[in-house]
Amino acid sequence: TTFWCVVPAAGRGARMGADCPKQYLPLAGKPLIAHTLERLAAHPRVAGLMVVLGENDAHWPGTATLHGKPVRTAIGGAERSDSVLAGLHALPPEVGDADFVLVHDAARPCVREADIARLVERAAQADGGLLGAPLRDTLKRAGEGGRSLATEPREQRWRAFTPQMFRRGELAAALHAVARDGRAVSDEAMAMELAGFRPLLVEGAEDNIKVTTAADLALAEFLLARTA
Ligand code: CTP
Ligand code: MG
Repeated sequence: TTFWCVVPAAGRGARMGADCPKQYLPLAGKPLIAHTLERLAAHPRVAGLMVVLGENDAHWPGTATLHGKPVRTAIGGAERSDSVLAGLHALPPEVGDADFVLVHDAARPCVREADIARLVERAAQADGGLLGAPLRDTLKRAGEGGRSLATEPREQRWRAFTPQMFRRGELAAALHAVARDGRAVSDEAMAMELAGFRPLLVEGAEDNIKVTTAADLALAEFLLARTA
């Protein structure tokens, strides 16, 4: 089985603070997003890409196919969850409500082939899941003046990555509920948790970084070759 992948790319990259959205910054000779889409399209389990763009995006090159797979676009919204919802709605009719779809940040160009394969394998058995990794550092609760108030247990704490994989209809309903209730969610899994699901955490490589700052760009350039 193959799955469509929704790629939210409608953010403005405020924390990067560059002249253009971070997904279009040059990385190893091409725009950052080109690396991300290349890896996804090359994956045998990916059927097609639904790239969600910002309104008036002047940078999108108009790619229609990659590795022989269709690349479609939709227009995103103010929050990442709005963008993902728009992408889900715009998927071609061949994608049913009960079909699984992947969601992967445009800003994560270093995702590994084997991690996508493992997520797809395991999450489909578990009604959905996400890549992540157990926390390795000691975790502090910060208080006034940047003082450490307490040390939080590290056990059972995971960092959440993408791709995340859920059934299209269930994810759309969960994101609708979030929008209706005016709640903010930071990933698809959080919307699913609020809807009562228990997404499977699938351990993935920590070098699947989300490029957020200028330092991350340099790190991503270093990691690209090593994670191929
Ligand atoms: N994204 C989106 N629609 C939004 C906000 C974010 O499609 N309204 C996308 C981004 O383009 C990115 C991914 O979601 O690929 C993860 O978001 P993030 O890393 O926060 O990117 P930005 O929102 O662009 O960055 P910042 O928060 O620094 O502005
Ligand atoms: Mg953001």
